[in-house]
Amino acid sequence: MIDLRSDTITRPTEAMLESMREASYGDDSRDGDETVMNLEALAAERTGKEAGAFMPSGTMTNLVAVLTHAQRGGEVLLESSAHILVSEIGGIAGLAGMFHRGVPGTRGAMDIDALREKIRPMTRNNLGTALVCMETTHNQAGGAVLPLAHMRAVHDLAHEHGVPVHTDGARLFNAAAALGVAASDIAQHTDSVGFCVSKGLSAPVGSVLCGSASFIERARTFRRMVGGNMRQAGPLAAAGIVALETMVDRLTEDHASAKRLAEGLHHINPRLVDPQEVETNLVRVDVSASKRSAAQWSDDLQRKGIRVSPASASTLRFVTHRHIGNTDIDATVGAVAALWTKS
Ligand SMILES: Cc1ncc(COP(=O)(O)O)c(C=O)c1O
Repeated sequence: MIDLRSDTITRPTEAMLESMREASYGDDSRDGDETVMNLEALAAERTGKEAGAFMPSGTMTNLVAVLTHAQRGGEVLLESSAHILVSEIGGIAGLAGMFHRGVPGTRGAMDIDALREKIRPMTRNNLGTALVCMETTHNQAGGAVLPLAHMRAVHDLAHEHGVPVHTDGARLFNAAAALGVAASDIAQHTDSVGFCVSKGLSAPVGSVLCGSASFIERARTFRRMVGGNMRQAGPLAAAGIVALETMVDRLTEDHASAKRLAEGLHHINPRLVDPQEVETNLVRVDVSASKRSAAQWSDDLQRKGIRVSPASASTLRFVTHRHIGNTDIDATVGAVAALWTKS
């Protein structure tokens, strides 16, 4: 099987398994675990923040960030197709008790004028803006990377209004690789940032929320509230450390694979995908010109040994990662080409 459904399927490396065997078994929820603390310190250093808190998932880093930044009942502004809105089961409302308003955007970047229009203080007639969120790379926008100038503009605007900014950086290191900058160059434009070691970085589980020391101290309370304290999390953190130390530099290989895939598919039919829009390891493919639904494409490709995710009725999502090489990409393009002639 060529599995292009997600980069979360990546298996731990031998070095990760070795470090997991040797990890400490302190109680992260009681007096702390040494390996977890080492991962948190490394994550803080890589993002240029004062502190980090290890969590089980990217969804939880976002939820805890919202709970920590914002008073219940306030309003969160974020791009209309943000992962927090479309894929996190309404936790922002149901669990954090926040109202939200989506801001229209292009390739995941909120329209700054629309954001300026929506940001507002609390009055008798309005909920005040409690938090602004960004997402880079942007999942629904096909792995698009927010330009640093855009992030700076959002951060400056929010701060003019005394509003904090959180960034969902589940694939922060993909964004950094695509921009050719350090993760801290991105994270300087946000008050808090979460990233996952469980995606293209190949660790089995885990995400880290980073921010100021006082923010992370409060975040630890909310992490406990939502059940995120993991007790003997040393082995998971150990894999996360190896992920940060050894797996970041190779992400450009995944981006090159995604580009090769997009170019191959574009060659079959230009309406499938524009390779110029593929910046990282996600490739969104529009199959509407084929008269076959995305679900049918997914089933047909699976019969040829290729797994992809239908992202909408007419869109497929292909994600490249460490277990996908050029041969797999070329086989995938070949399979799509063969099915295309029958569509
Ligand atoms: C942009 C973004 N944010 C958050 C998440 C959630 O991460 P997790 O699956 O670890 O909860 C994902 C997962 O794909 C994502 O793509």
